[in-house]
Amino acid sequence: MEHAIETRGLIKRFDGLVAVDDVNLSVRRGEIFGLLGPNGAGKSTIIKMLTTMLRPTEGEAYVWGHHIVRERDAVRSCIGVVFQDPSVDGKLTARENLDFHGRMYGMPGDERKRRIAEVLELVELYDKADVLLEEFSGGMRRRLEIARGLMHRPHVLFLDEPTLGLDTQTRRYIWDYIRKMNGEEDVTVVITTHYMEEADNLCNRVAIIDHGRIVALDTPISLKSMIGTDTLTLEVRDGLERLRDVLLGFEWVRSFDASNGYVRLSVDSAQSRIPEVVLAACRAGVRIKSVSVHEPTLEDVFLRYTGRSMRDETGKGDLVRALMRR
Ligand SMILES: Nc1ncnc2c1ncn2[C@@H]1O[C@H](COP(=O)(O)OP(=O)(O)O)[C@@H](O)[C@H]1O
Ligand SMILES: [Mg+2]
Repeated sequence: MEHAIETRGLIKRFDGLVAVDDVNLSVRRGEIFGLLGPNGAGKSTIIKMLTTMLRPTEGEAYVWGHHIVRERDAVRSCIGVVFQDPSVDGKLTARENLDFHGRMYGMPGDERKRRIAEVLELVELYDKADVLLEEFSGGMRRRLEIARGLMHRPHVLFLDEPTLGLDTQTRRYIWDYIRKMNGEEDVTVVITTHYMEEADNLCNRVAIIDHGRIVALDTPISLKSMIGTDTLTLEVRDGLERLRDVLLGFEWVRSFDASNGYVRLSVDSAQSRIPEVVLAACRAGVRIKSVSVHEPTLEDVFLRYTGRSMRDETGKGDLVRALMRR
């Protein structure tokens, strides 16, 4: 079957800067596909090109079989977009916003009415249909923007950082709506994010982007399994030498590093090894003060491919944007 999206050698340069650098990807019909990367990685620029807002410098892309430069109108009619920056009119009610959008897409009146009810139902805003958007919270506005993106029944919905600056609970609700529309309405979803958990929880496949390039692309499980083992960290007071001898005796302990009173073990399924480790330490007369398990995350995958941590770079911008969004 033809792909929902296909890009070949997609490049975008701004003056001297290469914002998107030779991106090749195929998004399958029906999947939730994630673009994960730090601020400035080029995610929004990719979305803007695929949604025909920005012309590529080089390369080609097809959305639902239509060329993004030569068939812009056809592309636009089969996509919905929720841009990174808020774009709903506060002086209109939820219903008016959706109705306006439906008119722009030439939907007849009775169909608009039916569809408005459906999409408001989906994001659980039906009882807020006649409330002015300026009275909505940030999370409610985001939900309405998603509803609006779905209004004209697109095949592909693009969501650029849909949960940026929202609290954890609201974020989880939004994940639920995205899953629901993906399932019930059969919409292919392309979502950008710099939240690892979001990509991990929501996406069927994830492309990790850094400096405009795809550095890794696979299912979250496969990406994490490339990192390999879990890390089991033990806080110990003394007896490190004895502990080393005992633990390295287990064939499932792959490595042992000790520093500053902490021992780090590479272990498969670390959770289930805790009792054995504690028992062995106890027998060797070593007291363990605390135990923690770290399973590989997409953050580890990013670190492995780029040598940098994604978290370090995103924290500040995030806060500023969250404040601006208020
Ligand atoms: N219109 C523009 N003019 C010049 N540079 C831009 C423009 N849009 C984005 N950039 C630059 O391109 C790079 C990628 O930006 P963007 O696609 O917004 O990244 P992301 O969405 O991953 O945070 C950044 O370095 C950004 O400053
Ligand atoms: Mg962006």
